[in-house]
Order: sequence, then structure tokens, then C-alpha cells
Amino acid sequence: MNQDQLKQAVAQAAVDYIAPHLNKNSVVGVGTGSTANCFVDALAAIKHTFDAAVASSEATAQRLRSHGIAVLELNSVSDMRFYIDGADESDHQLNLIKGGGAALTREKIVAAVADEFICIADESKLVNIMGNFPLPVEVIPMARSHVARKLVGLGGEPVWREGTITDNGNYILDVHGLEITDPKGLETAINQITGVVTNGIFGMRGADLLLLGTSEGVKQLTA
Ligand code: A5P
Repeated sequence: MNQDQLKQAVAQAAVDYIAPHLNKNSVVGVGTGSTANCFVDALAAIKHTFDAAVASSEATAQRLRSHGIAVLELNSVSDMRFYIDGADESDHQLNLIKGGGAALTREKIVAAVADEFICIADESKLVNIMGNFPLPVEVIPMARSHVARKLVGLGGEPVWREGTITDNGNYILDVHGLEITDPKGLETAINQITGVVTNGIFGMRGADLLLLGTSEGVKQLTA
């Protein structure tokens, strides 16, 4: 199977996983990216079995609506059983790097509300130690240079993702050269830098389940 087929396989596996738990009041949290797009497309087949979705980006909201799935504001939702999203990297403890699509802050917020975070990814995303994928950090625009200097102090090589403005109106710094042996510690340290909105390490709230697309089929990994 090629990478697209693996993404479609994990997307369908996620739909199969959540379907028995959905009812007419259920709200499903949906992430951002090419794997999440596959999930939205698969979710459309069972759209009459749940109430609505919450999206982690404007792009995902549009895709959901295009399938006739209602999209709610997160502030109007108090219960969310599942959040389903892709990742740029996952380690074996299901700490993640996310934000390759610049949606990390909303993704982290929606994931925080959900009871269960199901990560869907093809096998190329599973690593022993995260950091080969540059870590995205969302920053307030006027703080970009200050935050970049502090990230250098933490051992990284930040690169401004020029031309990218997040859904929240901010900038992204991609931090190269990190070897993330302590995901929770580094997540916390970066979030302490004034001007950082959040960073793409999902360690304090990692995934609960990783559905990993492999050539031998979809594997279920738990932390
Ligand atoms: C979006 O900001 C990201 O967190 C995505 O979830 C991540 O980049 C995975 O994207 P793909 O499924 O396209 O690889």
C-alpha cells in the first residue's frame, strides 16, 4: 500500500472504532491535515449517527460542511467523547509532534476537551525519539525574534515559516535540531517563553490510542 492508502486505512479504522459509541447527541472532534481529511471523508458515511463535529481549523470546518456535517463552536460543547487527528511524529509513548499544517493551537485546545484522543498516522510517523520533524511553535508576531533567541538558548535552530499566518493570526517558527528525550519537559519549557502561544509537542496531553497504518494492516498502539 502507498502512503495515501495507509492514510485511508487508518481513517476508516478510526471511524470503525468510534462508530459503536456514537449517538444522536455525540459531538466528534476533528483535526487537520491530509490524514484528518481522509477521516472526514470516511466519517461522512456515518453522518446520520451523530450530532455534529468540532473542527481544529477553518480548512477542516469547510471540509466537514461540504459533506453536510454540522460544525459547532467549541464553546458551545461540554462533552466530546473523541478527538481524531493526525501527527507529524509519534514516539512509542504516544507523545506527538503536531503543527505541520500550522493548526497546533486549536488542535491542542480541542484535544484537551475530548475524553479520548485517537491519533491516526501512517507508519512513517512512528519514531523512537522525536525531533527529526522540525517542531512548530506558534508565536505572537511581535515576539517572533525574542522567541527565536530563546529557542536557540534551548538548543534549537528556529526558522520562521514565512508567509504562513495561523487561523489565530500568528506566526510559526519551525525548530530544527532538537532531540526530544523529555517531551513534557520541553513542552513546558517552550510554553514558558513570553510570546509563545503554544508549541507542537503533545506530551502533557498525548494520544490515548495510535492507529498506525502499516503494510501488515492497521495496528493499535497504546502508551
Ligand atoms: C496540522 O497542524 C498538523 O498537526 C497535522 O495533524 C499533522 O501535520 C499531520 O498532517 P498529515 O496527516 O497531513 O501528515
